[in-house]
Amino acid sequence: MREAMERFREEAESAVHYLAARIGPLPEIILVLGTGLGGLADRIDDALTIPYHEIPHFPHATVESHAGNLIVGALGGKRVAALQGRFHFYEGYSTRELTRPVRVLSLLGAKTLVVSNAAGGLNPDFAPGTIMLLRDHINLIPDNPLRGANIDAWGPRFPDFSAPYDQPLMATMLRAAARLGTPNVTSGIYVAIPGPSLETPAETRYLRSIGADAVGMSTVPEVIVAVHAGLKVLGISVVANVNDPDNFKPIRIEEIIDETRKCEERLQELLVAFVREI
Ligand code: HPA
Repeated sequence: MREAMERFREEAESAVHYLAARIGPLPEIILVLGTGLGGLADRIDDALTIPYHEIPHFPHATVESHAGNLIVGALGGKRVAALQGRFHFYEGYSTRELTRPVRVLSLLGAKTLVVSNAAGGLNPDFAPGTIMLLRDHINLIPDNPLRGANIDAWGPRFPDFSAPYDQPLMATMLRAAARLGTPNVTSGIYVAIPGPSLETPAETRYLRSIGADAVGMSTVPEVIVAVHAGLKVLGISVVANVNDPDNFKPIRIEEIIDETRKCEERLQELLVAFVREI
């Protein structure tokens, strides 16, 4: 167990050394761009694009809607590192493996994680296009990226999760939304399921009954690593579809991607305004 962790540590450190030599001034903010939201990368100035496969030990993306690039540059006057394309538990990665990019960027000195995803709405007040800031989460992925020997230099064995999402960052985002007049921005609780099969009507009823407002297959592992590393976190779900257990409609991935793309412009503007303010 300890040996596996030592190997993981050495690999992460070799990615850190590689990137430190290649990217110039270090990024303060990590942006994880979820399904249909990768276009934000086009707004990054002086962008240096590094395909994941060039970075030692980085996992490679397998999902079509997720390109696999690290993009470093300036956004809203800040140094950012955008992960265009993320990894999921359903692809077969362990959560430790799929969170490696966030761990490596935290070791490079990033202080804030902004993580986005496409999600299914469970709260009946939501509509396709609702932007939900994560107030809290429920992890139903049967794995934890911190499982195994703890590396004390990276964070505590039993990290506190009483407030995984940063209140001031959320308030800043809500202010930016109000100023821009962005409609349908709210907050809620995200539940992460392993996937890749989508929810049945009975599972949808269950997820709502345990207190979740939106469901997806990502984000929570990255947030666990970021909180362990002491980063402030802002989580954003774009609600692509709303699932009503009593009138359940088929959920189609093409529609999820389409709906998320429709929100992309609005979310990009919001993120730029937000980054400028923090
Ligand atoms: N369920 C799970 N993940 C999702 C959904 C959904 O309905 N929509 C977008 N991602």
